[in-house]
Amino acid sequence: MGERELLMIPGPTNVDPAVLRALSKPTLSHTDPEFVKIFKESLNNLKKVFMTHNEAFVIAGSGTLALEMAIANIIEPGDKILNTVSGFFGQYFVEISKAHGALPKVLEAPWGKSIKPDQVKNALKEGDYKAVTVTHVETSTGVTNPIKEIGEIVKEYSNAFYIVDAVCSLGGMEVRVDDWNIDVCASGSQKCIGVPPGLALLSVSDEVLKFLEKRKSPVKFWYGDFRNWLPVMRDPSRYFATPPVNMIYALSEALKVVLGEGLEERFRRHHILAEAFRAAMDALNLKLVADREYVADTVTAVYYPKNIEDNAFRSEMRRRGIVVASTLGPLKGKGFRVGHMGNVSQNDIMSTIAAIEATLRNMGYQFNYGAGLTAAQEKILSLQQ
Ligand SMILES: Cc1ncc(COP(=O)(O)O)c(C=O)c1O
Repeated sequence: MGERELLMIPGPTNVDPAVLRALSKPTLSHTDPEFVKIFKESLNNLKKVFMTHNEAFVIAGSGTLALEMAIANIIEPGDKILNTVSGFFGQYFVEISKAHGALPKVLEAPWGKSIKPDQVKNALKEGDYKAVTVTHVETSTGVTNPIKEIGEIVKEYSNAFYIVDAVCSLGGMEVRVDDWNIDVCASGSQKCIGVPPGLALLSVSDEVLKFLEKRKSPVKFWYGDFRNWLPVMRDPSRYFATPPVNMIYALSEALKVVLGEGLEERFRRHHILAEAFRAAMDALNLKLVADREYVADTVTAVYYPKNIEDNAFRSEMRRRGIVVASTLGPLKGKGFRVGHMGNVSQNDIMSTIAAIEATLRNMGYQFNYGAGLTAAQEKILSLQQ
């Protein structure tokens, strides 16, 4: 399928041609005033996307780097940390916390369900934690965790730093860093922002930066130490390590696309297309992994009906030009995941549903052919009014 392939996985997502063109511009010196201006403007625009006055950081790496920087800077060996885990990516925080010498207390929700604010409240009443971690959209299940409500609880019941993984939500769903008391918000370039993989994006509160001045032990991650990067983020003509110049051109273009659409409009588009996709799955009698009350607008995980084999399904989808992802961990082989985020359009959603219908029918699944497309179309019409 080559260049016509549609990426409907939960990242990387389809990249706007203007962003691809930016990547191919001649590489400037990282100290060239023209590049410094682009970097500075990108950091300012990124703050708008995070909805914050806090410091923004853009570092070469992936979302996992952003998670590790959050933990490495805040945690000192022996610190207690409250890690909430509702799927595959929540566990990343637990592993990173252990790697940096923290003592994690893990609050779990079953796969498909969200963490409850009361769970966090009860844990905070019983223990004293240095930090609380929450995965906003758990990409393995398509569940949204209530980061606003948990943020209120963290503020009211503790002195803990509040760390949020917004890798699968920033730029596609509401993430209000200042209003929701988020100390470190960690994200990546390749999902709702619509840049290829390769950038860790963070916002960091003044409280965290002040804490770093009085930490007892050095941060055990020199490349990831916020204090090494802070002068660069405040004045991109400064040097700590060479920034990925062309990726920052790409980010600059992508943020213009995001802000040009408008955040509220963008969230609404994500919501309408996610609702359309869910309506289609209902019409095909396919069950979602996420409980309805927690569904995310950026990714949906769907169980296969009986007798549908994962590799065969995804290979046939790919022959039809649509790439979808497998489910992870204990759900491996039991379902597929569709990312509907970033530059996703109504046409992309309708093509994906059409390919799912054709593929399932070809594989022997019995259903009312065309019902998914009709349901999605009707949902879009009703929500766009
Ligand atoms: C919620 C979440 N957190 C963290 C990550 C890890 O990000 P990356 O693959 O960019 O390192 C992912 C990747 O899919 C994710 O979805």
